[in-house]
Amino acid sequence: MTGPGPRQVELLAREAAYLAPGASEEAALGGRVFVSGRGAVLVDLDGNEYLDFAAGTLTQSVGHCHPEVVAALTEQAGRLWNVHDFATADRAALCELLAELLPEHLTTLAFFSTGAEVVEAALRTVQAVAEPGRNRVGALRYGFHGKTQGARMLVHWDVGHQSFAGNSVLGYSPYCYRCPLELTYPSCDVRCASLVRRHIAEKSNVSALFFEPVLGAAGVIVPPPGYWEQIAAACRDNGVLLVADEVLTGGGRTGSFLASEALGVRADLVALSKGMASGFPFAVLAGTDAVLRSPAAARAGSTASTYASNPLGIAAAKATLSVLRRDTLVDRVRVLGDLMAPRLAELHERYPNLGDVRGIGLLYGLEFVHDRQSRRPAPELARRVYQAALDLGLRTAIGGHVIRLAPPFTLDDGQLRHGLDLLDRAIGGAVGELR
Ligand SMILES: Cc1ncc(COP(=O)(O)O)c(C=O)c1O
Repeated sequence: MTGPGPRQVELLAREAAYLAPGASEEAALGGRVFVSGRGAVLVDLDGNEYLDFAAGTLTQSVGHCHPEVVAALTEQAGRLWNVHDFATADRAALCELLAELLPEHLTTLAFFSTGAEVVEAALRTVQAVAEPGRNRVGALRYGFHGKTQGARMLVHWDVGHQSFAGNSVLGYSPYCYRCPLELTYPSCDVRCASLVRRHIAEKSNVSALFFEPVLGAAGVIVPPPGYWEQIAAACRDNGVLLVADEVLTGGGRTGSFLASEALGVRADLVALSKGMASGFPFAVLAGTDAVLRSPAAARAGSTASTYASNPLGIAAAKATLSVLRRDTLVDRVRVLGDLMAPRLAELHERYPNLGDVRGIGLLYGLEFVHDRQSRRPAPELARRVYQAALDLGLRTAIGGHVIRLAPPFTLDDGQLRHGLDLLDRAIGGAVGELR
Protein backbone atom coordinates (compact mmCIF):
# COMPACT_ATOMS: atom_id res chain seq x y z
CA MET A 1 0.00 0.00 0.00
CA THR A 2 1.11 3.61 -0.50
CA GLY A 3 -0.45 6.04 1.91
CA PRO A 4 -3.90 5.74 3.45
CA GLY A 5 -6.65 3.97 1.50
CA PRO A 6 -9.69 5.75 -0.07
CA ARG A 7 -12.03 5.46 2.91
CA GLN A 8 -9.39 6.93 5.20
CA VAL A 9 -8.63 9.77 2.79
CA GLU A 10 -12.32 10.67 2.69
CA LEU A 11 -12.69 10.63 6.49
CA LEU A 12 -9.52 12.67 7.01
CA ALA A 13 -10.83 15.32 4.62
CA ARG A 14 -14.14 15.49 6.51
CA GLU A 15 -12.32 16.02 9.80
CA ALA A 16 -9.80 18.49 8.40
CA ALA A 17 -12.66 20.88 7.59
CA TYR A 18 -13.12 21.37 11.35
CA LEU A 19 -9.99 20.35 13.21
CA ALA A 20 -7.37 22.87 14.27
CA PRO A 21 -3.95 22.03 12.86
CA GLY A 22 -1.42 20.96 15.47
CA ALA A 23 -1.68 17.18 15.48
CA SER A 24 1.41 15.15 16.37
CA GLU A 25 3.96 14.63 13.62
CA GLU A 26 3.04 10.94 13.71
CA ALA A 27 -0.65 11.47 13.12
CA ALA A 28 -0.15 14.22 10.56
CA LEU A 29 2.41 12.28 8.52
CA GLY A 30 0.75 8.90 8.99
CA GLY A 31 -2.73 9.96 7.95
CA ARG A 32 -4.28 6.69 9.07
CA VAL A 33 -7.68 6.06 10.59
CA PHE A 34 -7.53 3.12 12.96
CA VAL A 35 -10.72 1.28 13.75
CA SER A 36 -9.61 -1.52 16.05
CA GLY A 37 -6.68 -3.01 17.86
CA ARG A 38 -5.98 -6.38 19.41
CA GLY A 39 -2.68 -7.24 21.06
CA ALA A 40 0.10 -5.75 18.96
CA VAL A 41 -2.05 -5.41 15.80
CA LEU A 42 -4.02 -2.39 14.60
CA VAL A 43 -6.56 -2.37 11.74
CA ASP A 44 -7.34 0.71 9.65
CA LEU A 45 -10.59 1.82 8.04
CA ASP A 46 -9.63 0.21 4.72
CA GLY A 47 -8.94 -3.13 6.42
CA ASN A 48 -5.11 -2.96 6.44
CA GLU A 49 -3.23 -4.39 9.41
CA TYR A 50 -0.23 -2.89 11.24
CA LEU A 51 2.12 -4.14 13.91
CA ASP A 52 2.05 -1.39 16.51
CA PHE A 53 5.65 -0.70 17.54
CA ALA A 54 4.54 2.54 19.15
CA ALA A 55 2.14 0.77 21.57
CA GLY A 56 -0.58 3.41 21.28
CA THR A 57 1.54 6.21 22.64
CA LEU A 58 3.63 3.96 24.90
CA THR A 59 0.39 3.23 26.69
CA GLN A 60 -0.42 -0.29 25.43
CA SER A 61 2.12 -2.27 27.43
CA VAL A 62 -0.23 -5.27 27.55
CA GLY A 63 -1.38 -4.63 23.98
CA HIS A 64 -4.59 -3.22 22.56
CA CYS A 65 -7.87 -4.33 24.10
CA HIS A 66 -6.41 -6.94 26.43
CA PRO A 67 -9.43 -9.12 27.30
CA GLU A 68 -8.92 -8.72 31.06
CA VAL A 69 -8.71 -4.95 30.77
CA VAL A 70 -11.81 -4.94 28.55
CA ALA A 71 -13.66 -7.03 31.15
CA ALA A 72 -12.62 -4.76 34.03
CA LEU A 73 -13.64 -1.62 32.13
CA THR A 74 -16.94 -3.12 30.98
CA GLU A 75 -17.81 -4.14 34.52
CA GLN A 76 -16.82 -0.72 35.88
CA ALA A 77 -18.70 1.12 33.11
CA GLY A 78 -21.90 -0.55 34.16
CA ARG A 79 -21.45 0.32 37.82
CA LEU A 80 -19.77 3.63 38.73
CA TRP A 81 -18.02 6.43 36.82
CA ASN A 82 -17.11 9.32 39.10
CA VAL A 83 -17.38 10.02 42.83
CA HIS A 84 -14.64 12.66 42.96
CA ASP A 85 -11.81 11.20 45.06
CA PHE A 86 -13.90 9.11 47.46
CA ALA A 87 -12.43 5.71 48.35
CA THR A 88 -13.37 2.68 46.25
CA ALA A 89 -12.55 -1.02 46.67
CA ASP A 90 -10.56 -1.01 43.44
CA ARG A 91 -8.47 1.96 44.56
CA ALA A 92 -7.52 0.18 47.78
CA ALA A 93 -6.57 -2.95 45.81
CA LEU A 94 -4.59 -0.85 43.33
CA CYS A 95 -2.62 0.77 46.17
CA GLU A 96 -1.65 -2.68 47.43
CA LEU A 97 -0.68 -3.84 43.96
CA LEU A 98 1.46 -0.76 43.35
CA ALA A 99 3.15 -1.21 46.71
CA GLU A 100 4.26 -4.66 45.52
CA LEU A 101 5.56 -3.37 42.20
CA LEU A 102 7.32 -0.21 43.37
CA PRO A 103 10.62 -0.02 45.27
CA GLU A 104 10.07 -0.37 49.02
CA HIS A 105 10.85 3.23 49.91
CA LEU A 106 8.00 4.61 47.76
CA THR A 107 5.24 3.97 50.24
CA THR A 108 2.75 6.79 49.60
CA LEU A 109 0.62 7.30 46.49
CA ALA A 110 -1.60 9.95 44.94
CA PHE A 111 -3.67 9.46 41.78
CA PHE A 112 -4.11 11.82 38.83
CA SER A 113 -5.22 11.61 35.21
CA THR A 114 -2.41 12.65 32.85
CA GLY A 115 1.36 12.94 32.68
CA ALA A 116 1.34 16.73 32.84
CA GLU A 117 -1.11 16.69 35.75
CA VAL A 118 1.11 14.40 37.82
CA VAL A 119 4.21 16.49 37.01
CA GLU A 120 2.32 19.58 38.20
CA ALA A 121 1.40 17.71 41.39
CA ALA A 122 5.09 16.88 41.92
CA LEU A 123 6.00 20.55 41.39
CA ARG A 124 3.36 21.64 43.94
CA THR A 125 4.65 19.08 46.41
CA VAL A 126 8.23 20.27 46.01
CA GLN A 127 7.15 23.87 46.43
CA ALA A 128 5.18 22.97 49.57
CA VAL A 129 8.02 21.13 51.31
CA ALA A 130 10.96 23.27 50.12
CA GLU A 131 13.02 25.02 52.77
CA PRO A 132 12.83 28.81 52.66
CA GLY A 133 15.17 30.17 50.01
CA ARG A 134 15.07 27.04 47.88
CA ASN A 135 12.84 28.62 45.29
CA ARG A 136 14.19 27.01 42.11
CA VAL A 137 14.05 23.56 40.59
CA GLY A 138 16.57 21.86 38.35
CA ALA A 139 15.89 20.10 35.06
CA LEU A 140 17.97 18.55 32.30
CA ARG A 141 18.35 19.71 28.73
CA TYR A 142 16.24 17.50 26.44
CA GLY A 143 13.88 16.47 29.20
CA PHE A 144 10.19 16.55 28.34
CA HIS A 145 7.61 16.84 31.09
CA GLY A 146 4.33 17.90 29.49
CA LYS A 147 2.61 20.97 28.12
CA THR A 148 1.05 22.63 31.14
CA GLN A 149 2.75 25.82 32.22
CA GLY A 150 4.64 24.34 35.19
CA ALA A 151 5.79 21.33 33.20
CA ARG A 152 6.90 23.59 30.35
CA MET A 153 9.09 25.47 32.79
CA LEU A 154 11.18 22.30 33.00
CA VAL A 155 11.67 21.97 29.23
CA HIS A 156 15.01 23.22 27.89
CA TRP A 157 15.12 22.40 24.19
CA ASP A 158 13.44 23.58 21.11
CA VAL A 159 10.46 21.27 21.10
CA GLY A 160 7.99 24.13 20.87
CA HIS A 161 6.67 23.69 24.39
CA GLN A 162 8.87 25.85 26.56
CA SER A 163 7.39 28.22 29.08
CA PHE A 164 7.47 32.02 28.62
CA ALA A 165 10.20 32.51 31.19
CA GLY A 166 12.04 29.61 32.74
CA ASN A 167 12.47 29.35 36.44
CA SER A 168 14.28 26.06 36.31
CA VAL A 169 18.03 25.62 36.41
CA LEU A 170 19.52 23.70 33.52
CA GLY A 171 21.80 20.66 33.70
CA TYR A 172 23.67 18.73 30.99
CA SER A 173 21.90 15.60 29.80
CA PRO A 174 23.90 12.47 28.95
CA TYR A 175 23.52 12.82 25.17
CA CYS A 176 26.74 11.01 24.23
CA TYR A 177 26.08 10.98 20.48
CA ARG A 178 25.89 14.78 20.49
CA CYS A 179 28.01 15.57 23.52
CA PRO A 180 27.67 19.27 24.35
CA LEU A 181 31.23 19.18 25.69
CA GLU A 182 32.52 17.45 22.55
CA LEU A 183 33.96 14.61 24.59
CA THR A 184 33.76 10.85 24.11
CA TYR A 185 32.66 8.22 26.58
CA PRO A 186 34.39 6.66 28.54
CA SER A 187 37.48 8.88 28.29
CA CYS A 188 35.24 11.86 29.17
CA ASP A 189 34.91 10.47 32.69
CA VAL A 190 31.23 11.52 32.46
CA ARG A 191 32.15 15.18 32.73
CA CYS A 192 28.55 16.25 32.02
CA ALA A 193 27.56 14.66 35.33
CA SER A 194 30.46 16.34 37.19
CA LEU A 195 29.24 19.72 35.94
CA VAL A 196 25.66 19.03 37.05
CA ARG A 197 27.03 17.82 40.39
CA ARG A 198 29.06 21.01 40.83
CA HIS A 199 26.08 23.13 39.95
CA ILE A 200 23.95 21.36 42.54
CA ALA A 201 26.62 21.75 45.20
CA GLU A 202 27.13 25.45 44.47
CA LYS A 203 23.51 26.59 44.16
CA SER A 204 21.87 26.57 47.54
CA ASN A 205 18.52 27.70 46.13
CA VAL A 206 17.64 24.47 44.28
CA SER A 207 14.90 22.41 45.93
CA ALA A 208 14.59 19.47 43.52
CA LEU A 209 15.93 17.99 40.30
CA PHE A 210 13.24 16.85 37.87
CA PHE A 211 14.53 14.30 35.40
CA GLU A 212 13.64 11.55 32.98
CA PRO A 213 16.00 8.68 33.90
CA VAL A 214 16.07 7.80 30.19
CA LEU A 215 15.06 10.82 28.09
CA GLY A 216 12.20 9.63 25.92
CA ALA A 217 10.73 12.39 23.77
CA ALA A 218 14.16 13.71 22.78
CA GLY A 219 14.98 10.38 21.16
CA VAL A 220 15.66 7.77 23.85
CA ILE A 221 18.82 9.15 25.43
CA VAL A 222 20.24 6.46 27.71
CA PRO A 223 22.73 7.66 30.33
CA PRO A 224 26.16 6.02 30.45
CA PRO A 225 27.27 4.27 33.65
CA GLY A 226 28.40 6.81 36.22
CA TYR A 227 26.07 9.60 35.19
CA TRP A 228 23.24 9.06 37.68
CA GLU A 229 25.50 7.83 40.46
CA GLN A 230 27.28 11.20 40.58
CA ILE A 231 24.19 13.35 40.24
CA ALA A 232 22.06 11.38 42.69
CA ALA A 233 24.84 11.53 45.30
CA ALA A 234 25.16 15.30 44.83
CA CYS A 235 21.40 15.75 45.30
CA ARG A 236 21.43 13.61 48.45
CA ASP A 237 24.43 15.47 49.94
CA ASN A 238 22.90 18.87 49.25
CA GLY A 239 19.30 18.30 50.31
CA VAL A 240 17.96 18.42 46.74
CA LEU A 241 14.94 16.16 46.15
CA LEU A 242 15.13 13.72 43.24
CA VAL A 243 11.92 13.72 41.20
CA ALA A 244 11.90 11.02 38.53
CA ASP A 245 9.51 11.70 35.68
CA GLU A 246 8.76 8.12 34.66
CA VAL A 247 5.58 9.00 32.80
CA LEU A 248 7.14 7.36 29.73
CA THR A 249 9.61 4.86 31.23
CA GLY A 250 7.61 3.65 34.25
CA GLY A 251 5.71 0.37 34.36
CA GLY A 252 8.39 -1.93 32.96
CA ARG A 253 9.26 -0.33 29.61
CA THR A 254 13.02 -0.37 30.29
CA GLY A 255 13.13 -3.89 31.76
CA SER A 256 12.61 -2.82 35.39
CA PHE A 257 9.36 -1.52 36.83
CA LEU A 258 11.10 1.85 37.19
CA ALA A 259 14.00 2.97 35.02
CA SER A 260 15.38 4.96 37.95
CA GLU A 261 15.51 1.74 39.96
CA ALA A 262 17.63 0.08 37.27
CA LEU A 263 19.94 3.10 37.11
CA GLY A 264 20.46 3.06 40.86
CA VAL A 265 18.61 6.30 41.64
CA ARG A 266 16.54 6.31 44.81
CA ALA A 267 14.00 8.98 43.87
CA ASP A 268 11.98 10.86 46.48
CA LEU A 269 9.06 11.27 44.10
CA VAL A 270 8.19 9.34 40.95
CA ALA A 271 5.57 10.31 38.36
CA LEU A 272 4.04 7.47 36.33
CA SER A 273 1.33 7.41 33.69
CA LYS A 274 1.56 6.06 30.15
CA GLY A 275 2.18 2.35 30.64
CA MET A 276 -0.04 2.01 33.68
CA ALA A 277 -3.63 1.87 32.47
CA SER A 278 -3.70 0.71 28.83
CA GLY A 279 -4.34 4.19 27.45
CA PHE A 280 -7.03 5.30 29.91
CA PRO A 281 -6.49 8.63 31.68
CA PHE A 282 -4.52 7.63 34.74
CA ALA A 283 -1.37 8.79 36.52
CA VAL A 284 0.19 8.22 39.89
CA LEU A 285 2.62 10.11 42.05
CA ALA A 286 4.58 7.74 44.28
CA GLY A 287 6.75 9.12 47.02
CA THR A 288 8.39 8.66 50.35
CA ASP A 289 6.39 9.18 53.51
CA ALA A 290 8.81 11.96 54.45
CA VAL A 291 7.75 14.01 51.43
CA LEU A 292 4.16 13.06 50.62
CA ARG A 293 3.00 12.76 54.24
CA SER A 294 4.77 15.87 55.45
CA PRO A 295 2.19 18.33 56.85
CA ALA A 296 3.21 20.95 54.28
CA ALA A 297 2.43 18.64 51.34
CA ALA A 298 -0.62 16.98 52.84
CA ARG A 299 -2.92 20.00 52.84
CA ALA A 300 -6.63 19.29 52.29
CA GLY A 301 -7.43 18.95 48.61
CA SER A 302 -3.81 18.84 47.44
CA THR A 303 -4.27 15.48 45.67
CA ALA A 304 -7.85 16.00 44.46
CA SER A 305 -9.04 16.94 40.97
CA THR A 306 -12.12 16.14 38.87
CA TYR A 307 -10.68 13.11 37.09
CA ALA A 308 -8.02 12.03 39.58
CA SER A 309 -9.05 8.70 41.07
CA ASN A 310 -11.82 8.26 38.47
CA PRO A 311 -13.04 4.66 38.78
CA LEU A 312 -12.59 3.83 35.08
CA GLY A 313 -8.92 4.84 35.12
CA ILE A 314 -8.42 2.96 38.38
CA ALA A 315 -10.12 -0.16 36.95
CA ALA A 316 -7.94 -0.02 33.82
CA ALA A 317 -4.77 0.43 35.91
CA LYS A 318 -5.64 -2.39 38.28
CA ALA A 319 -6.37 -4.80 35.42
CA THR A 320 -3.29 -3.74 33.40
CA LEU A 321 -0.88 -4.01 36.32
CA SER A 322 -2.40 -7.33 37.46
CA VAL A 323 -1.69 -8.79 34.00
CA LEU A 324 1.80 -7.27 34.04
CA ARG A 325 2.61 -8.87 37.39
CA ARG A 326 0.94 -12.25 36.83
CA ASP A 327 2.49 -12.77 33.38
CA THR A 328 5.90 -11.47 34.57
CA LEU A 329 5.90 -9.09 31.63
CA VAL A 330 8.78 -6.99 32.94
CA ASP A 331 10.99 -10.09 32.57
CA ARG A 332 9.55 -10.55 29.09
CA VAL A 333 10.63 -6.98 28.22
CA ARG A 334 14.23 -7.96 28.93
CA VAL A 335 13.94 -11.12 26.79
CA LEU A 336 12.40 -9.24 23.86
CA GLY A 337 14.90 -6.41 24.33
CA ASP A 338 17.73 -8.94 24.03
CA LEU A 339 16.27 -10.14 20.71
CA MET A 340 15.81 -6.61 19.44
CA ALA A 341 19.24 -5.18 20.32
CA PRO A 342 21.45 -7.32 18.02
CA ARG A 343 19.03 -6.93 15.12
CA LEU A 344 19.07 -3.16 15.48
CA ALA A 345 22.86 -3.18 15.83
CA GLU A 346 23.00 -5.01 12.51
CA LEU A 347 20.81 -2.34 10.87
CA HIS A 348 23.13 0.29 12.32
CA GLU A 349 26.09 -1.42 10.73
CA ARG A 350 24.40 -1.77 7.35
CA TYR A 351 22.89 1.71 6.95
CA PRO A 352 25.36 4.62 7.22
CA ASN A 353 22.45 7.07 7.51
CA LEU A 354 21.47 5.39 10.73
CA GLY A 355 23.82 7.48 12.83
CA ASP A 356 22.97 6.09 16.24
CA VAL A 357 20.84 3.29 17.64
CA ARG A 358 20.34 3.27 21.38
CA GLY A 359 17.91 1.92 23.87
CA ILE A 360 17.11 -0.15 26.88
CA GLY A 361 14.49 -2.85 27.37
CA LEU A 362 11.76 -2.30 24.78
CA LEU A 363 12.50 1.37 24.16
CA TYR A 364 14.76 2.30 21.26
CA GLY A 365 15.65 5.44 19.34
CA LEU A 366 17.05 5.38 15.80
CA GLU A 367 18.75 8.62 14.88
CA PHE A 368 18.95 9.40 11.15
CA VAL A 369 21.77 11.59 9.81
CA HIS A 370 22.99 12.84 6.44
CA ASP A 371 26.36 11.21 7.02
CA ARG A 372 28.25 9.80 9.96
CA GLN A 373 31.00 12.38 9.74
CA SER A 374 28.91 15.52 10.17
CA ARG A 375 26.07 13.79 12.07
CA ARG A 376 23.77 16.38 10.54
CA PRO A 377 20.20 15.38 11.45
CA ALA A 378 18.14 14.00 8.55
CA PRO A 379 14.48 14.50 9.51
CA GLU A 380 13.32 14.12 5.90
CA LEU A 381 14.86 10.65 5.78
CA ALA A 382 13.29 9.72 9.13
CA ARG A 383 9.92 10.84 7.73
CA ARG A 384 10.38 8.65 4.65
CA VAL A 385 11.29 5.66 6.83
CA TYR A 386 8.28 6.31 9.05
CA GLN A 387 5.91 6.47 6.09
CA ALA A 388 7.50 3.53 4.28
CA ALA A 389 7.14 1.44 7.44
CA LEU A 390 3.47 2.36 7.74
CA ASP A 391 2.90 1.42 4.11
CA LEU A 392 4.49 -1.96 4.83
CA GLY A 393 2.29 -2.47 7.90
CA LEU A 394 4.52 -1.29 10.75
CA ARG A 395 3.61 1.60 13.02
CA THR A 396 6.57 3.33 14.71
CA ALA A 397 6.81 6.76 16.35
CA ILE A 398 8.70 9.76 15.00
CA GLY A 399 10.13 12.93 16.52
CA GLY A 400 12.26 15.04 14.16
CA HIS A 401 15.10 12.88 12.87
CA VAL A 402 14.55 10.07 15.40
CA ILE A 403 12.31 7.04 14.95
CA ARG A 404 11.24 5.49 18.24
CA LEU A 405 10.38 1.85 18.77
CA ALA A 406 8.35 0.81 21.81
CA PRO A 407 6.22 -2.27 21.10
CA PRO A 408 3.80 -3.86 23.60
CA PHE A 409 5.35 -6.31 26.07
CA THR A 410 2.94 -9.04 24.94
CA LEU A 411 4.50 -9.30 21.48
CA ASP A 412 5.55 -12.82 20.47
CA ASP A 413 9.02 -13.52 19.10
CA GLY A 414 7.69 -13.94 15.56
CA GLN A 415 5.95 -10.57 15.64
CA LEU A 416 9.11 -8.91 16.90
CA ARG A 417 11.18 -10.43 14.11
CA HIS A 418 8.56 -9.59 11.49
CA GLY A 419 8.38 -5.98 12.70
CA LEU A 420 12.14 -5.62 12.48
CA ASP A 421 12.12 -7.15 8.98
CA LEU A 422 9.58 -4.54 7.93
CA LEU A 423 11.70 -1.81 9.49
CA ASP A 424 14.74 -3.09 7.58
CA ARG A 425 12.78 -2.94 4.32
CA ALA A 426 11.46 0.52 5.15
CA ILE A 427 14.95 1.91 5.81
CA GLY A 428 16.34 0.17 2.70
CA GLY A 429 13.54 1.64 0.57
CA ALA A 430 13.83 5.15 2.01
CA VAL A 431 17.62 5.26 1.71
CA GLY A 432 17.36 3.89 -1.86
CA GLU A 433 14.90 6.64 -2.82
CA LEU A 434 17.32 9.30 -1.64
CA ARG A 435 20.09 8.08 -3.95
C1 LIG B 1 8.37 12.01 30.39
C2 LIG B 1 7.03 12.64 30.14
N1 LIG B 1 6.48 13.41 31.08
C3 LIG B 1 5.28 13.98 30.92
C4 LIG B 1 4.57 13.82 29.74
C5 LIG B 1 3.23 14.47 29.57
O1 LIG B 1 2.22 13.52 29.58
P1 LIG B 1 0.75 13.89 29.05
O2 LIG B 1 0.83 13.96 27.57
O3 LIG B 1 -0.09 12.75 29.53
O4 LIG B 1 0.37 15.17 29.69
C6 LIG B 1 5.11 13.02 28.72
C7 LIG B 1 4.37 12.83 27.46
O5 LIG B 1 4.85 12.31 26.50
C8 LIG B 1 6.38 12.42 28.92
O6 LIG B 1 6.94 11.67 27.97
